[in-house]
Amino acid sequence: MTETQKIYFYPLWLRIWHGINALCIILLIITGINLQSGSENPLIGFNTCINIHNVSGITVTLNYLLFFFGNLFTNNKSFYIVKPKGFLKRPIKQAKYYAWGMFTGMSAPYPLSEKRKFNPLQKYFYILVMYIAVPIVVVTGIGLFFPEIIIEKIYSISGVSVTAVLHSAMGFFISIFLVIHIYVSTIGKSPLDNFKSIITGWHHIEKNK
Ligand code: HEM
Repeated sequence: MTETQKIYFYPLWLRIWHGINALCIILLIITGINLQSGSENPLIGFNTCINIHNVSGITVTLNYLLFFFGNLFTNNKSFYIVKPKGFLKRPIKQAKYYAWGMFTGMSAPYPLSEKRKFNPLQKYFYILVMYIAVPIVVVTGIGLFFPEIIIEKIYSISGVSVTAVLHSAMGFFISIFLVIHIYVSTIGKSPLDNFKSIITGWHHIEKNK
């Protein structure tokens, strides 16, 4: 027999951060692709695109402080800590589950609980995106906003070009992450369950009695 357990996974500050972040990152991706194409888009003018990109970028930057300090000062940071034991074995096991295990009736190798909000693979991706990709995109974005602060040459290559390439590459990584993130979020008790959780804060877990 199974019973459903409710866990309060996503406190209000985290949900506010996530909602603002998701909306702004989507705007940044759409306007970023438009800006890269360099041509005038009939739907959004080039200058409007720049303005939306700048305002969203500044919002993501300030909002990142909420994520960073929210984690620093609450227990949420404990879900982002990686232990050396099973450093590769655990995410590989989870990847195998995603690749075929879940299609062949295997049960999840790392079921969620009060102590485990993320499975090992998910944890790695959240760390990569939130502690490497987003900070790089923010810092390079600030540089491109104030190009006078960028060093002129990095090994004879223009500093602005290096910054722009890094900014686009990380933006591309975040775009790919977002597609995978939304797909993986549909894997749960029901396809909409995780989306409801990030809005209400409560996550439902099926437990064998
Ligand atoms: C339409 C856009 C998005 C949707 C629908 C969405 C959906 C979700 C859902 C359902 C969860 C809770 C389940 C889980 O942990 O997997 C979640 C958590 C999370 N999302 Fe998103 N997301 C979006 C955009 C983003 C973006 C753009 C980022 C980062 C750049 C992001 C980073 C995260 C992180 C780090 C968590 C875990 C937060 C925590 O519990 O500490 N999400 N998201």
